[in-house]
Amino acid sequence: MTDLSALEKDVLDAIASAASLDELETVRVGAIGKKGSVTGLTKQLGGMSVEERKEYGPKFNMLKNTVAKAIDERKAVLEKEALNARLQSETVDVTLPVNGLDQGSIHPVSQAMDELAEVFADMGFAIAEGPEIEDDFHNFTALNIPPEHPARQMHDTFYLPENADGERKVLRTHTSPVQIRTMKNQQPPIRIIAPGRTYRSDSDATHTPMFHQVEGLVIDEGTHMGHLKGTLEAFVKAFFEVDNVTMRFRPSYFPFTEPSAEVDIQCSWKNGELRIGEGDDWLEILGCGMVNPRVIEACGLDSAKYQGFAFGCGIDRLAMLKYGMTDLRAFFDNDLRWMKHYGFMPLDMPTIAGGLSR
Ligand code: DAH
Repeated sequence: MTDLSALEKDVLDAIASAASLDELETVRVGAIGKKGSVTGLTKQLGGMSVEERKEYGPKFNMLKNTVAKAIDERKAVLEKEALNARLQSETVDVTLPVNGLDQGSIHPVSQAMDELAEVFADMGFAIAEGPEIEDDFHNFTALNIPPEHPARQMHDTFYLPENADGERKVLRTHTSPVQIRTMKNQQPPIRIIAPGRTYRSDSDATHTPMFHQVEGLVIDEGTHMGHLKGTLEAFVKAFFEVDNVTMRFRPSYFPFTEPSAEVDIQCSWKNGELRIGEGDDWLEILGCGMVNPRVIEACGLDSAKYQGFAFGCGIDRLAMLKYGMTDLRAFFDNDLRWMKHYGFMPLDMPTIAGGLSR
């Protein structure tokens, strides 16, 4: 007859001294596994009298339960220890300096876009978006550039192959189609800017096949050119971070605006350095005008009730002027030395209060 209290003590000691989950599992199999010492006790019941069975049956069971409970408890302790050890060994000190990794930087175009968004958000403009693969209607027709219109040739358009309906989509040649999409989807008052990529088949020191524009659109009742001038003046001052700037509105022509103007800002070139808001040179920075009533009507709005203004501006050029680069092509060369030199700190988000580009 097995000495039950001696067996219990042996097994419980073994459980308590198991130093790892693996060791504990070995003890478990040895005690309450199929061929374990505690499991094996029930075999002895066969040779017992009825009286003895009544006594020992429950005792064997109790021992088995005691052992199983002790194993569970020890298991919980060992698992916790294992987790703590792992947490200790895998600790990462996020305050340590990063070694061997170069910090990335924000591209000047992204920086200029963030700054533009900040300047216009401050004036109550939302950001609108449209697709870069555009259809003829949005890129041209609705903007009052019908087929055969000479302005179509000016745009050096990239056409996609004809689709099953005989339609040829285009890579949008300007951000102006976002005006159309916005007016068709939204009731006035509308106040949006639409920054984004645009495409023309053109390439030299000041032109790349892909470039960036920002479109502006305001549609409301009673909008007039004074609003346009005031908005653009506030924009130029905030963006170039100057207190005063003289602007020149030169009459121009765009099919989607009437009247139309091109805007120059006063500047000086001293020792190759550009200064905005002083001197007697002029820099052309954007095209603008009062939205042509035909465009408003093409979007299903009542042009007798609603008027508005629009402008379109090259972002790459704005960035070049503000940060002093001379060759546009370098913007898209992915030269890390250039990026390091002209890039911006990733965590310095431009804010009006904190200074846009500091
Ligand atoms: N879409 C014109 C371009 O790419 C720029 C432009 C001019 C946009 C006048 C406008 C505008 O919204 O009113 O050349």
